Formats: sequence, C-alpha cells, structure tokens
Amino acid sequence: MEIKTDFLVIGSGIGGLSYALKVSEVGEVVIVTKKQDTESNTNYAQGGIASVFSKDDSFELHIQDTLKAGDGLGNPEVVRRVVEAGPGCVEELVNIGVNFSKRKGEKKQFDLGLEGGHSKNRVVHVADFTGKEIESCLVQAVKSKKNIRILEDHLAIDLITQHHLIGYKRKPDEKIKCWGAYVLDIEKNQVITCLAKVTLLATGGAGRVYLHTTNPSIATGDGLAMAYRAGSPVANLEFLQFHPTALYHPQGDSFLISEAVRGEGGILRLQSGETFMEEYHPRKELAPRDVVARAIDHELKKSGDACVYLDVTHLDQKFIKLRFPQIYGKCLSLGIDITREPIPVVPAAHYICGGVVSDLEGKTGIENLYVCGEVACTGMHGANRLASNSLLEAVAFADFSAKSSKKKLKTLKEFTFPPIPQWSLKGVFDQKEWVIISHDRDWIQRFMWDYVGIVRSNRRLEQAKKRIQILLDEITQFYKVNPVTYDVIELRNIAIVAGLIIDCAIQRKESRGLHYNIDHPERDDKNWLKDTLLKSEEE
Ligand code: FAD
Ligand code: SIN
Repeated sequence: MEIKTDFLVIGSGIGGLSYALKVSEVGEVVIVTKKQDTESNTNYAQGGIASVFSKDDSFELHIQDTLKAGDGLGNPEVVRRVVEAGPGCVEELVNIGVNFSKRKGEKKQFDLGLEGGHSKNRVVHVADFTGKEIESCLVQAVKSKKNIRILEDHLAIDLITQHHLIGYKRKPDEKIKCWGAYVLDIEKNQVITCLAKVTLLATGGAGRVYLHTTNPSIATGDGLAMAYRAGSPVANLEFLQFHPTALYHPQGDSFLISEAVRGEGGILRLQSGETFMEEYHPRKELAPRDVVARAIDHELKKSGDACVYLDVTHLDQKFIKLRFPQIYGKCLSLGIDITREPIPVVPAAHYICGGVVSDLEGKTGIENLYVCGEVACTGMHGANRLASNSLLEAVAFADFSAKSSKKKLKTLKEFTFPPIPQWSLKGVFDQKEWVIISHDRDWIQRFMWDYVGIVRSNRRLEQAKKRIQILLDEITQFYKVNPVTYDVIELRNIAIVAGLIIDCAIQRKESRGLHYNIDHPERDDKNWLKDTLLKSEEE
C-alpha cells in the first residue's frame, strides 16, 4: 500500500502537532504516531514551559540561565531565538485553548513557578498537568483541520532515501534525500510506503533505553536511530538528563515528582530525616538537576539506602492539593499521603539533550528532512537542559521548521517521486525465537543503567561497549530474517541508540554538564569545548 502527501509528520507530541497545524496552511499533512494520538512524553509533562512574563525578569536573564546550565556547549544564537520566541509560543497555546494557571485572585497574570537553575519565577503551567492540557488542546486543534490526517498505531520503521532505490548508486557529492518513510500499520500488520515531499521527525526522547525512567513506553529513540541509519549526523548523546525525583514505589513506574515541588519549598531528606543538599550546592534543592541527581546518587551509595525522601509536610495542605493535584492523587492511590509523610524518591532517566543535528530552521543533514522537539539537537540545551526549556524549544522549533518547510514545498511543486519499491518480505520467515526480544531489551536497559548512568568510568563504558556490540550483531541478524514487528523495531532502535550514547560518552574525555566520568573528573575547555558528533558509515 502507498500513501502520498505533501508533509509527513512522524510523532504526535507537542513538536509534531504544532508543526502540523502550521504547515497545513499550505498543503496536505499525514501524521503517523505509534500509539494513540495523545500518547507522548508531552502528555506527562508536569512543571510547565519556561518563558519570560514577570516584570522583574528579562530575556537576558533567561538566556544567561540557559547558557549556564548548558555548561559551555549551548549555542547563544539558538538560545536567544528560542527564549525571545517564548512569550509568543505561550500565547499561541493559549489561543488553541490551553488554560494556564493564573496567580491567586488574578484573571490574566500567569502563576509563574520556580524550578532548578532558574534565577526567576518563569515557569508557566497548568497546575501539575501542563503536558496533558497542551496535548489535548493540540490534538483537538489538529482534528479540526480537514487536510490533516492522523494515523494512530502506525509505527515508522525507516526513512526512505536513495538507499532504497533498486540499483541506484549515489554520486560521491550527491546529498542524501528523504522521500518519506516505511510505516508499519500495527493493526493490519502491513508495511505502508508513505511518500512525502517534506518529512518531519518529531519522535521525542529515548528514556526507555534505561531501566528506570520517567518516560512512557513510546520513548525508545526511534527517530534518532532512523536518522542515524539514513546518514544524518547525531550529536551530544552522552548528555542524558536524570531527573532527581522519580517516585520510588513498586507500583510507581517511576512516576515523576515535579521539580516544581522543590520550587514551592520541598526539602530533600535522608532516611534519618537529615537534610543534605546544603553540602552540595548553595542553592540546595534548587541547584541544577545534574547536581541534585549526583548528590542523591552519592548519598544512596554511601548509605546503601534504596531512596531518599522529598518532604512537603511543612507546606499548607490546601495549597499542596491545589498546586499538585496529580502528584497528590497518584501518591495517595499508592498509600502515601504527601501532606503527612515524605515522598520516597530516586533519580531516573528523563531527557536526552543530544539528538539529530539541526540548524536554526530545523533542517537536518538530509534534504527534505526536518526535525524538532526532543529528538533534535539544536544547540539550545548544550551539556544540560534547564528545567521546562524543552516544551519551549519544541514549540519554537516547530515554528522555525514550519516556516522553512513551507518555503521548501513551494520549490517542490513540480516534483515527482522516483520509483520507490514497496517493503520487501523476501528471505524473511518467522524463526519462532521471540524470547530473544524481551531478554535483550531487559539486558540493554539494565547495563545502560548500571554502566552508563549518572556516574560513569572508563572501565564501565568499555564493558558497555563490548556488550552492546554483541547484542547489536545478534539483533541486526534477527531483524534481517524475521518479519518486522513492533517489538523488533523498537528493540533494534533501543540497541542502536544505546550504542550511540556509549560511543559519545567514550569520546568525551572530560566531565561536563550531565556527563560525569570519574576517570576524567574535570571540565576540559582546551580540548572539549565542542559537540560529540557521530555519522553512520554505511548508507
Ligand atoms: P513527544 O511528546 O515524546 O512525542 C513523540 C511522539 O512520537 C509520540 O506521539 C510517539 O508516539 C511518536 N513516535 C515515537 N516513535 C515513533 C515511530 N517510530 N513511529 C511513529 N510515531 C512515533 N519538559 C518541559 O519543558 N517541561 C516540563 O514540565 C516537562 N515535564 C516532563 C515530565 C515528564 C514525566 C517527562 C517524561 C518529560 C517532561 N518534559 C518536560 C520533557 C518534555 O515533555 C519532552 O521533551 C517533550 O514533550 C517532547 O516533545 P516531542 O514532541 O519532541 O516528543
Ligand atoms: C518537572 O516538572 O520536574 C519536569 C520539568 C522538566 O523536565 O523540564
């Protein structure tokens, strides 16, 4: 089966949906998304969107805070453009119906939260379920457009490039071009050739490469792996952000306890009740995330305890229920009344700062392929992302990419697709060895957590490299001879992304931002004030 469209959008989080709305002004759009339309990291965002709204704040301060968190690797031009676009981005969300929380007694003034690394209150939010509200308004807005089609339960497998043309030999200086993607219709178990003049990758993050993560099951790094396989450069994947406070509970599934809880006065304590953050940073609980996560990791290794505690019992009970209804409800459902007892928390993989390299218009190294949101590496976050800067970056870059894509489409009006073959099932049959899939996935997640986690060492990284190489060979072989399924596609992507994270981490012989290696504990500006770039050799 074949579909033809002007714009193919892969992913229905804040990045993909915002872009789709804008490009639909000039052409037909197909959105493919691997589960239900709202299922995304976006849907689980709690804290909010960082943007300058207060009189005592300024773009300069937001830029400074962002670059400081980025630890020397943020791109000042990108940061300025995104920060300055912030208020407009928030306004656009308001226009599609997002009802951000207002200051007590006020009708218009946003309630501005404070989070780690921010010098001012600037986080616009909807109580503690900002992402859910944004996602649902965006899905509604997209559904009201006649020329946007959303295909749920459609999993993109691979980008279509010259590599797929039968007998075609690309000239040495010929740019790689993208003409859409092969997509698995999960219900029909059929691969569709989805041809598009312009393609946007907005597949989100890769938290599921790790055993403990705040990310939902969709976050398997598919876009990153697809772009890398197709020949687009990827960068800075060693900068994996661990959120300091995921709920520690057997049925908690690493549910996030928002940084905004610390912003409102939450205190971190050891099992003994003692506080500890004052030993690590002058801003204590509101130190940047990497500092807090490493402090907790260090305390847990020292004490042998399973978790630390986040205490809000000193705050007003009514306020807690109003400001954090989701967190209060979730904890209560597990038997923890947060107004009376501290919340058990541990760090968990949360956000990948690196990704598919993009320029200021969201263009990648592949012609007609754009990227935005968590899958992209735009230069906004550098070595560490400032809290609540991710939703902001995704909406801003959706806009930059949409503007550029609309222009691109104009140049492609007379365009015809080359003869692109349908997905081939030649040489493929069910080997009935599916147990390998669940076993390998579990193994990768475990050793990534143990060897490529918050604190790294040369030895652990080398061990991880050896293991992933063995697994990658095994999985690639399995992929070639078995029919494609959801699980195999994800496993292959998880393994590729794990390998890329390890390669970036091995390359960087220093500690900076989120990457901490005990064998290279210092920041080394002389040799490492640069991105770690990877590009696939085979095409
Ligand atoms: P996503 O929202 O993750 O969307 C990705 C989409 O791609 C999904 O629809 C997915 O199904 C689809 N997809 C993936 N692979 C495929 C494939 N192969 N084929 C088809 N579809 C595919 N950031 C902030 O700025 N503020 C916050 O308060 C905040 N809180 C957070 C809380 C949690 C619990 C988490 C997990 C993250 C939080 N973040 C926050 C980070 C932020 O939510 C994400 O970085 C952002 O939402 C990413 O948006 P996106 O559009 O790039 O990707
Ligand atoms: C949070 O609410 O703590 C998450 C904010 C973010 O990841 O930016």
